[in-house]
This record gives sequence, C-alpha cells and structure tokens, in this order.
Amino acid sequence: MSSIQLSIDAITDFISREEVYALQPEAAACQTALHDKSGKGNDFLGWVNLPSSITDDDFDSIEKAAAFIKENVDILVVTGIGGSYLGARAVIEALGNNFNLLLSKEERKAPLVLFAGQNIGEEYTAELLDALRKRSFAVVMISKSGTTTEPALAFRFLKKELEDRYGREEAAKRIFAVTDKARGSLKQLADSEGYTQFVIPDDVGGRFSILTPVGLLPIAAAGYDIRTLVDGARQMEKTTAENDTLDSNPALLYAAARNALYRKGYKIEILANYSPNIHYITEWWKQLYGESEGKNGKGIFPAGVDLTTDLHSMGQLIQDGERTLFETVIFVKKVRRVLKPGTVEGDPDKLNYLNGRRINEVNEMARLGTQLAHVDGGVPNMLLEIDTINEHALGELIYMFEKGCGISGYMLGVNPFDQPGVEEYKRNMFALLGKPGFEEATEKLRARICVSD
Ligand code: PA5
Repeated sequence: MSSIQLSIDAITDFISREEVYALQPEAAACQTALHDKSGKGNDFLGWVNLPSSITDDDFDSIEKAAAFIKENVDILVVTGIGGSYLGARAVIEALGNNFNLLLSKEERKAPLVLFAGQNIGEEYTAELLDALRKRSFAVVMISKSGTTTEPALAFRFLKKELEDRYGREEAAKRIFAVTDKARGSLKQLADSEGYTQFVIPDDVGGRFSILTPVGLLPIAAAGYDIRTLVDGARQMEKTTAENDTLDSNPALLYAAARNALYRKGYKIEILANYSPNIHYITEWWKQLYGESEGKNGKGIFPAGVDLTTDLHSMGQLIQDGERTLFETVIFVKKVRRVLKPGTVEGDPDKLNYLNGRRINEVNEMARLGTQLAHVDGGVPNMLLEIDTINEHALGELIYMFEKGCGISGYMLGVNPFDQPGVEEYKRNMFALLGKPGFEEATEKLRARICVSD
C-alpha cells in the first residue's frame, strides 16, 4: 500500500481526463525506454534500479561512518552544491525539527547538520567558520567532478580550520569524501590525505544521486533510518516497473498530466506545500525537473511556494496573473504533533470557533479553500497527498519524482540526463576571474563589457 496518492481531479476543468489518458501509450513507451535503456542519455540511467541494487555492505559502510560522526562531533558540515547537497537537505529537513538549532546534541540524538559550498557568500562562509570555531565538527565533502568552484572554495576553509585545530592526521579522520571512483581533484586529495571515501556511481547524475552516498551518508549521520528510506524507494521502483497504466503508476500519471497541460500552454508548474519541513523537497524537485527538462528551447519552468506563507506574497499572482501556471500541491495528511487552540475569554481574535479542532484541520481547509480559489482563477491543480512524513514515504516520493522526471523528459523530446547549459556561466566566471587557460575568452568578454558600457 503506497503512502502517496496523486489526484488529477482538479485539472479537469481545463483539460479532460480523456486528453490526459490519451497520453498513456506515449508515457508508457517512455517508461519502457528507461527500463530497456533505449532512450537519450542512456549512460546515466543507474538511478532506475538503484534502490534495489543497494547492498547490505553499502548500508554497513555508510552506517559505520555515520556512527563515527554521531559519536564524535556536535556539527556536521555537508559541503556540496546542486545535486550534491539538495537531496540530503531535503530529507534531513523534512524529517527534522524546525528548531534543531536550539536543541542540544542529546535532545537531537545526532549532530546538527549545516550546509556549506552551496553559494559563494563570503559573509556566509565567514559566519559559518565563526560558528564552528568553538564546536567539534566533521565535514562531508561531496563533489562528483571534484572541481566545482563553490564547494571547493568552502572546503579550503573548512579543511584549514580542522587542520589548524587538530593537525593534519586527526583532521583527516573528520573529513569524508563522496566523489568519483577514479577521477577529479577531490579523489586525488582523498587518496593522498587518507579520507574515508564513498563513490558516486558513473551512471548516476548529480540530481538523481540522493539514494547514493551523496544523500545517504549525511541522512544517516543526521540520525535517520536510511534502510527504511531505501525500502520506500524500492517499493516505488517495483510499483512503477510493474505497471504501465496511469491508474496504477503515479509516476506515469504525473508525467502524462504535466505534459498534457504543457501542450495546452501551461508552461509553469508550481510545487506548493503546506508544511514548512517540505521546503527543501521543493528545492530538490526544482533542480531535478529544471535541469532535466529545460533544454532545446523547451521545458516546464519549475517554481515553488510554501503555503500558506506565500499566499500572503505570491497569492495575488497565482490567483490572477498570466494564466500559464498549474499547481501540484503536496499535502501531508497526518502530522506528528497535535495542537488545538482553546478558548479565550471575550474571544478578542474571534478564534474561539476553532475550540477543540486541530491546527492541521485549519491547514487542510486552507488547502481546500485555496485549491477551489485557484481553480476558479484558472489554475489547474494536481494533489499529491502523503499519509505522513517518515523515511518510507519520502523514499516513495523521491523515486516517484525521479521516475516521473525521466518519463516526462522523454515525452518532451529532450535528453533529461545531461546539463550542457550549466557550463556557460562557469566559462564566463573563470574568464572574468582570469583563470589560466581562459585568456582568449577573457579578452572577448572584456571587450563585450566595454561595448555595453
Ligand atoms: O545535477 C548536476 O549534475 C549538478 O547540479 C551537480 O550536481 C552540481 O553542479 C554539483 O556538481 P559536482 O558534484 O560535480 O560538484
């Protein structure tokens, strides 16, 4: 029995169920192309059977490193960017307490996880180093290429801080490298310094790497159950592998519905959630779909909102702006904690009518009210309900979104597994910084800047 259910009932004012179901054969053929590796980018399909191929030895080695981190440090700094950090952050924050920062290690039962290398903020890095100075910490450095500027820059400082404090040998015990099995400067450094290493498989791209050590090591070190997470993903791997109808395969339904909407002119998908813990699931999903689909002049723009928070900032545009949006709403049915407002004498805020009812009921009615309003305003709505947030449900959700992404990318006619566009800014940045080897580009860019000045 799946913990997640996808409904397309609230898109049928805009596109008929028949129009969506007409895409079933196309979606199923795209899924088959993922299974038999006959489609574009087929050298990056290691994620398709990844959950079922993780062995007990894989779990054991990750859990051993996680146990060392849990026992020995107060803070774990996960250093990486894009696919090398978003998955871990998505799961850790979805399962975590929003106020972890204020809890002691004993209350958390695991180190506090902080993130570095996902920006080039000088102040961010300086403030992080200040905060770490009085605390015991370890670093998980994640980079498949081993050369990405943002995490490499942050890692220089973190490594120096550890080495200054503990000496090189002891520092090496607190650094864990997750990288390519053979190539790249992080691999070379890890070999020469003797860091504990984990491999990112060659055939798994960054944004599909959450169920490799890229995600699993930080998630285990944060105190969560990676075996149950992977079990959830295995269940969805099996469900999607064995089913090729929209009624029995949520990844297929999701891919077909969003492509049917796209072909009718709905070019922007908003992933909306009603739980603050889900914010980074949205960020992870944005990379997964944005980097996979946005190419060759095509692609559904993946946007995200946290509700009801953003109804007070983005609500006007969603309700009433240009009608090219559709929404996919994630709603968690059962929340872990119970809170009921009581009554207050005189009812000054007029909330006594909620006496005895749960805050999640208010949230649910906000969701329903918003769905009705947005449908009235011309925004097709899909609903993805999750029974409760736990490792198993997150594993199912992650795999469902990954499979949906592969199918949807093929339906769009693109290679969902490359990302040629992301190199463009890097070339310009290196040229503008005067990196050796980029001299010719430096001249050209400087000339362009002068002309536009
Ligand atoms: O999905 C991708 O490939 C990218 O977002 C990468 O994950 C990101 O650029 C980080 O790359 P790397 O792991 O090589 O440092």
